[in-house]
Amino acid sequence: MCGVIGATGAQDPLEIILEGLHRLEYRGYDSAGVALVEGDRLWRVREADGTRSVAALEVLARGAPAGSRTGIGHTRWATHGRPSPENAHPHFDCTGGLALVHNGIIENHAELSAGLVERGHTLASETDSEVLVHLLEEELDQGLVEAVRRCLPRLRGSFSVAVVHAGEPELIVGARRATPLVLGVADGEGLVASDIPALLGRTRRLFALADDEVAEVRPGEVRVTTVEGRVVEPTALTVEWDLEAAQKAGCDDFMSKEMGEQPKAVADTLLDRRKADGTLVLDELRLRVEELAAVDKVVIVACGSSYHAALVAKYALEHWTRLPTEVDIASEFRYRDPVLDGRTLAVGVSQSGETLDTLQALREAKRQGAKAMVVSNVVDSSMAREADGVLYTRAGPEIGVASTKCHLAQIVALELLALTLAQHRGTRGRPEVTELFERLSELPGKVAETLGRRKEVDQVADALAGARDFFFLGRHVGFPVALEGALKLKEISYLRAEGYPAGELKHGPIALIEPGTVVVAVATRNPLWEKMLSNVEEVRSRGATVVLVADDGDEETARRADHVLWVPPVEPLLSPVVNVVPLQLLAYRLARALGHDVDRPRNLAKTVTVE
Ligand code: AGP
Repeated sequence: MCGVIGATGAQDPLEIILEGLHRLEYRGYDSAGVALVEGDRLWRVREADGTRSVAALEVLARGAPAGSRTGIGHTRWATHGRPSPENAHPHFDCTGGLALVHNGIIENHAELSAGLVERGHTLASETDSEVLVHLLEEELDQGLVEAVRRCLPRLRGSFSVAVVHAGEPELIVGARRATPLVLGVADGEGLVASDIPALLGRTRRLFALADDEVAEVRPGEVRVTTVEGRVVEPTALTVEWDLEAAQKAGCDDFMSKEMGEQPKAVADTLLDRRKADGTLVLDELRLRVEELAAVDKVVIVACGSSYHAALVAKYALEHWTRLPTEVDIASEFRYRDPVLDGRTLAVGVSQSGETLDTLQALREAKRQGAKAMVVSNVVDSSMAREADGVLYTRAGPEIGVASTKCHLAQIVALELLALTLAQHRGTRGRPEVTELFERLSELPGKVAETLGRRKEVDQVADALAGARDFFFLGRHVGFPVALEGALKLKEISYLRAEGYPAGELKHGPIALIEPGTVVVAVATRNPLWEKMLSNVEEVRSRGATVVLVADDGDEETARRADHVLWVPPVEPLLSPVVNVVPLQLLAYRLARALGHDVDRPRNLAKTVTVE
């Protein structure tokens, strides 16, 4: 998620912009920039110095022109185009008289930029955002506001933008669709930002813009119209939050906020992955179709939650592509003397793209001649730079140490990869690939529906208070879900929890089951559901407290449970994306009840860059 800010009518707009960008740094970013309106021209500086970009901007901005009253600024979390000064916002049009900052994903950027180039525009970046400032350049004959009104209907995807025009020095125009934009008014100042924390230091007179509305921000006033030009009253925001609460969007912690962002993380990861003719396209993958078609084995290496996402992918890859798929814990992989060759596709899964165990495992795979790709949430991370191909999740920065939205986005990205490989190998026909993509596209709604049952999950967690021993069981794709549920619980509550394949209990672990042991089992309808119920009976008969993740309305399963975590039914191979959600919520509630800091659990770091 990028950060957007603008100020007009200010004695020192640069100070407001830099302060606002600092307040947006918590969102994570890899580059930053600012533009000021100076007389009849624009001044701009941009930095791609990672998380030091705003500080670097402050140094560069000492050369800013005095006397400017209007400017815009941006912190970028790269989705299209690597982090670089050229890709950093603000983006200029061909004349240098328009500057734009953008948060979101313009889904139809490819077709729009093709048309712009045909009409003689020079695009200076690899980003989707830049297409918009050139579209505006073509529509300026009646001013910036009218230009924005004309361009919005041509965009698909999500955006919150702020634009300035050297020819209208006191004006900032804002617009949004699907991603927030907040307006503010202070003494003689007009303000705009992608979210509340950026403006809290200046004013609490804040207003929310609605989708496809156009905001005209001038010194001391804002005017809002619909895309048709009808004037509307913007919704005033009452903000009681302090800065930290605002950065968590009012949630108690980042983990809670990020669990709530899971539907969008899944939806964004699926955005513009399918062409009009139904074929899947993974733009950034960089591996040619013939390279993918030649693959005869897949090896996936990862750690922690990423490893669990990889285990889910194993079932999908082998079922849809018939490719033998090995999944290794990265820290073990390179020491087992693995057998790879030029027809092996080695996949590293890592939200940070920096986990050293996974990076080293990928290097070993490349050393043996395998094609190496990475599924990562960070554009241009170390793994992304070293891999032959990359597939980005688009979950936005994940700040809580316990991975939630990135884990879901990883599963979705890996299943997209599996479907794309199946499509190229011809092991799944177009109709089935289309059907499965449609099912994937329904997941954001099902995840949101499951998140809406938080209170019921809280009640189950409260009933388990005091329990000290947890087993998480699953079969088939329920097994990786069980592992992830156990990891979530142990890493934020510090309670003992083991994830196990349910069929394995009778080979030893069942000796641990006794009254008071809590067994959480994933019992939704997958190919091994009946066997799962038999395993549930085994632990019930030994006095365990049984919590079952069950499909809505499945009373046959529910009657075997002391507590039920209901989920909407999902195609089995896609079900981990939904079934893990109640387990995240269960772990969260138990950890909070124990008074733990769920964002920064003891002994853990968000990224493990040591072996
Ligand atoms: C998951 O909740 C943990 N924070 C941890 O297991 C994490 O998944 C693991 O360290 C891998 O991180 P990565 O995805 O950045 O490689």
